Amino acid sequence: MSFTVAIDGPAAAGKGTVSRAVAAHFGLAHLDTGVLYRAVGKRVLAGEDPVAAACALRAEDLEVAGLRTPEVAQEASKVAAIPQVRAALVDFQRAFARRAGGAVLDGRDIGTVICPEAEAKLFVTASAERRAERRLKELVEAGHPASYENVLADVRARDARDTDRAEAPLRPAPGAVYIDTSELTIAAAVDRAIAAVAAARA
Ligand code: C5P
Repeated sequence: MSFTVAIDGPAAAGKGTVSRAVAAHFGLAHLDTGVLYRAVGKRVLAGEDPVAAACALRAEDLEVAGLRTPEVAQEASKVAAIPQVRAALVDFQRAFARRAGGAVLDGRDIGTVICPEAEAKLFVTASAERRAERRLKELVEAGHPASYENVLADVRARDARDTDRAEAPLRPAPGAVYIDTSELTIAAAVDRAIAAVAAARA
């Protein structure tokens, strides 16, 4: 039987951590859909046309190194505004969402466009300042020092592109459980998400 958990929200709000924890807790498969757009963005940075890159995307592209850099993130949010790029990635995401055994998908448009019929929908967010602080810490820990101002500017630029685009803009899906992680520990955010999904499964 399929059971889909749709988790949307802006960059660095804690969606990934929450999604992995929900998937592990309920024994569901997990797809980080941002990786699809990052993989297209990376191919575009290497000189390919965005639509051709999205149509030709292969499983191996999702495993390549270097998908987590700030440059690839910015390029991902540019290619993600192109309707034909989004269209090329829909079938894969829908099939994953409806796989037997159930799935968690996280992204920007999972509850609104990819899987509006998802049994559980969450919107995980936090203030831009808190998200920039967390992203800066991750970058420093990974050996990529950056300034807080630059990271905050990156977060805001990506928010603006993801929220203002015409095609599948970032929005909470109707009925989504809203979790603001600005003042929450990871454990508390995960507890809220698990409780919301448990309520939808009951
Ligand atoms: O989540 P992540 O930061 O990896 O996503 C990279 C970019 O991919 C986002 O800024 C967004 O523009 C795009 N994206 C999207 N729809 C999704 C997932 C990601 O437009 N479902």
